[in-house]
Amino acid sequence: MSTVAVANLTKSYSGAPALKGVSFQVEPAETFALLGPNGAGKTTCLEILEGYRTPDGGEARVLDMNPATGGRRFRESIGLVLQVTSLELELTARETVSAFSKYYPKPLNVDEVIDIVGLGHAAAKRVKALSGGQQRRLEIALGIIGDPAVIFLDEPTTGLDPDARRKIWQLILDLNSRGKTILLSSHYMDEVEALAHRLAVMKHGEIIAEGSPAQLQDRFSDHAVIRFGLSGNELPDDFPGPLRQLVEVSRGWATLRARDPAPVLADLTNWAFRHRYDLSSITVARPSLEDIYLKLTGDGEGAR
Ligand SMILES: Nc1ncnc2c1ncn2[C@@H]1O[C@H](COP(=O)(O)OP(=O)(O)OP(=O)(O)O)[C@@H](O)[C@H]1O
Ligand SMILES: [Mg+2]
Repeated sequence: MSTVAVANLTKSYSGAPALKGVSFQVEPAETFALLGPNGAGKTTCLEILEGYRTPDGGEARVLDMNPATGGRRFRESIGLVLQVTSLELELTARETVSAFSKYYPKPLNVDEVIDIVGLGHAAAKRVKALSGGQQRRLEIALGIIGDPAVIFLDEPTTGLDPDARRKIWQLILDLNSRGKTILLSSHYMDEVEALAHRLAVMKHGEIIAEGSPAQLQDRFSDHAVIRFGLSGNELPDDFPGPLRQLVEVSRGWATLRARDPAPVLADLTNWAFRHRYDLSSITVARPSLEDIYLKLTGDGEGAR
């Protein structure tokens, strides 16, 4: 049985569709990510799974319960980190976690959880005196204090510095390796690559691509990207004409895209060898997942 199962979910706000038939499953101990631009429907989808919103149509099941009617048993089995914070400013970090732990029948140890999220030194500080990143960690502490089987994280690291993001990633990886099923939303491809076994890309209330990061990269990268630094910041005058038609120049870098990189590389390296042109910065790579994501979610051609 899938831990999370969503089938044909629809939801409109005042007639404007936010979800147009979304379906996916999350398996036990899997980390699944919803990725998509602002307004794609990620939060709406998570809120239905958290039991905060009822769908207009379709079905949502979490741990084989209906979130809308699962009641206390359902709420005790899930942990939430919402997109918008609702922390009590005057409480200390420790008081916040302690108060929350009382909602759960078998909470984890309050001080251990505070240590796990890296707030040990700030446990006695009031919420209003914590930085944005520390508040986000505190919210993650609230999401895990009940030792839930399923954790929903709506944009867990938006607005955090790179170091804080890495620490929260590690925390999420640790939770997952302890068997938790994790459903998160994100705008960051690097985050999804670091954390998710599988992802769904959403746009305008629909899933437009789904799979593991590696599968999406295989499916949507049909060309190689060849890049090298330009001495003098411009293409040399004697750069070969056929290659010139393939090349984009920006900020001192030349980029060539080719479905079949072999003849392009042969022409390029032959020319460089003959003209003693320095190609030591050359790289040949597939488009990054970020490139693929932008192509999929962009308004231009390429989506679907
Ligand atoms: N409470 C609400 N009332 C009316 N419309 C809403 C409400 N919540 C969301 N919407 C609309 O539903 C659509 C989906 O919004 P949602 O918050 O689910 O997107 P999202 O993918 O989470 O976006 P973001 O990345 O900005 O958080 C948007 O067009 C949004 O304006
Ligand atoms: Mg959102």
